[in-house]
Amino acid sequence: MYICVCKGVTDTAIREAVCQGADRMRDLKVRLGVSEQCGICAIYAQEVLEQALIQKTAPRHHLT
Ligand code: FES
Repeated sequence: MYICVCKGVTDTAIREAVCQGADRMRDLKVRLGVSEQCGICAIYAQEVLEQALIQKTAPRHHLT
C-alpha cells in the first residue's frame, strides 16, 4: 500500500527501512523522501513507523 504518493513509498519500503536501522521520521525522510513534498503522508508514515518499531523490538520482550 502506498503511504507517500508523492515519492511512491510503500508501507513495505518503510518496514524495510526500519529493519535497516531507521527509527524516526527524519530517517524515513532522508532514506525514502517521505513527507518531503506535500507532507500529507506524515501522519500515516508515523503510524507505519511505530508499528514496525514495535514488531522489530517485540521478540526481545519475549526473551526478557
Ligand atoms: S504524499 Fe508524501 S509528501 Fe506527499
